[in-house]
Amino acid sequence: MRGSKGPLLWIFSDPEALSRAAATLFARRARQAIRRSGRFAVALSGGQTPRQAYEWLARSPCRDAVEWDRVHVFWGDERCVPFEDPRNNARMAFEALLNHVPIPQDQIHPIACADDPKAAAARYERILRDFFGERPARFDLVFLGLGEDGHTASLFPFSPALEEQVRWVVAVEEATPPRVTLTFPLLNQARLVAFLVSGANKAGILREVLRSPPNLRQRPAQGIRPIGGRVLWLVDRAAGSLL
Ligand code: 6PG
Repeated sequence: MRGSKGPLLWIFSDPEALSRAAATLFARRARQAIRRSGRFAVALSGGQTPRQAYEWLARSPCRDAVEWDRVHVFWGDERCVPFEDPRNNARMAFEALLNHVPIPQDQIHPIACADDPKAAAARYERILRDFFGERPARFDLVFLGLGEDGHTASLFPFSPALEEQVRWVVAVEEATPPRVTLTFPLLNQARLVAFLVSGANKAGILREVLRSPPNLRQRPAQGIRPIGGRVLWLVDRAAGSLL
């Protein structure tokens, strides 16, 4: 574990241990948030890494430890493909978790952007602004992944989306498929951001992100610095092998 100044780093023996820890973290943060404010606002990550964590969360004991009727689920980003497409992040989360827990459907907010990414981004921003209302726009927990190029959510190196200072959600039309992503202004209001990073193929980029001088255009994940929040890195031994 790193010191209290920088991000906290937890290294686990394997992907299963990482996933169980992520599921336990979700349940613990949910309990704290619901006790504090009566609800738990979480943004899920896409990609493959979080799948096993979501599956652990859908099983006892984690499943039984969460007051699902107080949970509000959003996504950090989405690929602009139909829900049925195996690349769709919401589809993965429904398969692994949301179809198996008693969360009210109107508290689950997928980013539906298969048709018009720009319009979908504006619509999602409206949903978020209506949800947070007069309260601070602070997710209680954001799960994020790390791409081999240093991207996180759909904030890719040298993308115009990295420069966004006002909007909370933007379309990333230069990607294939196009994407919709939360931006730094919203992500950096989170109380806690937990990166889940697994596999030897992430060892190089993880070392760069954690050890190289900040360069958020080259390594967007370095731009995740929540104001008044914390960053936690949950990595397995393979991903952490160069640290
Ligand atoms: C996405 C994710 C993206 C992902 C990383 C890591 O929609 O692709 O939001 O940021 O977290 O690319 O993906 P893996 O977990 O599949 O390695």
